Amino acid sequence: MKAVVYIQYGSPDVLQVKQVEKPTPKKNEILIRIKATAVNSGDWRLRKADPFAVRFIFGLLRPKISILGSVFSGEVESIGDDVNYYKVGDFVFGHTNMSFGSYAEYICMLDNASMAIKPANISHTEAAVIPFGGVTALHFIKKAMIKPRQKVLVVGSSGAVGSAAVQIAKSFGADVTGVCGASNIALVKSIGADKVIDYTKEDFTKNGETYDVIFDAVKAIALPRSIKSLNKNGIMILSAAGISEMLQGLWISMTSNKKVLTGVISHKAEDIAFLKELIEKDKFKSVIDRTYPLEKIAEAHAYVEKGHKKGNVAIEV
Ligand SMILES: NC(=O)c1ccc[n+]([C@@H]2O[C@H](COP(=O)([O-])OP(=O)(O)OC[C@H]3O[C@@H](n4cnc5c(N)ncnc54)[C@H](OP(=O)(O)O)[C@@H]3O)[C@@H](O)[C@H]2O)c1
Repeated sequence: MKAVVYIQYGSPDVLQVKQVEKPTPKKNEILIRIKATAVNSGDWRLRKADPFAVRFIFGLLRPKISILGSVFSGEVESIGDDVNYYKVGDFVFGHTNMSFGSYAEYICMLDNASMAIKPANISHTEAAVIPFGGVTALHFIKKAMIKPRQKVLVVGSSGAVGSAAVQIAKSFGADVTGVCGASNIALVKSIGADKVIDYTKEDFTKNGETYDVIFDAVKAIALPRSIKSLNKNGIMILSAAGISEMLQGLWISMTSNKKVLTGVISHKAEDIAFLKELIEKDKFKSVIDRTYPLEKIAEAHAYVEKGHKKGNVAIEV
């Protein structure tokens, strides 16, 4: 099968399209013919080992994983003897978690992995981009227990996680304000934000407004200043937090009436099923900036690494 392989960390050129052996499903696995995947922030960070700490988990001198890509949508081609949930011919979409491997024509997934039947009302390309931002935003929004009419501010609302956070918070009945650049205002309004703040013109920490939940999806805010824009008992979500924000957040949670949520998300099939339902009810739509063929994945990586994509970048296999 065709796959994008990398054997050393580095610039987008380390990604090479090659022929590799097609995987065979074990008893409890399904073999999926991938129709579409996506380039997410995690992919380019692993490709270039940035931050350096990536090497401690994914290989000190060279990557232990040779095929990147963590999301997919495709068709079940064959199944193992002990598979219960899927049958040959099903269209499925999901997330590979930390095993990666979706920059390829085929992938084997456990029967109970983080995936679900693809909603019939969207294409494979639209489905493939959903699990990365969707599951991340859902994980934190569920933890924050967002309720109807709560005021929620989403910083980085034009990115993959932020655009999902706007839509999921709206589906929970919140009053959502998105923070984005001027060129993304129309996009963020189109996915349901009640108000939009252009971060190039206005500093949300200085406009006198306060919120029940602030969700920073892109590590764009200064915690000590922004925490003042939270109401009493408010919750700050820092989905892209590094160690320093995690420690500051822990201190704020321990010493004030405000709570800071950080950490690495978990991947569960039930979250993909939840997103599938939102899509079927027209409460969640894919935001796709650009689509590239698998052969142009290096170009897609270079674009995503610049940090200005609108929503997601899809790859058609
Ligand atoms: N906790 C977890 O387990 C977990 C899981 C998944 C992802 N993450 C983290 O989430 C982060 C990436 O999220 P993503 O993929 O959603 O990012 P992304 O799509 O690459 O974000 C790009 C968007 O962010 C906007 N942006 C940049 N700076 C901004 C600012 N100061 N204010 C408002 N918007 C700004 C850009 O708009 P402009 O063009 O206007 O700048 C662009 O539209 C990564 O750091 C990743 O590690 C964490």
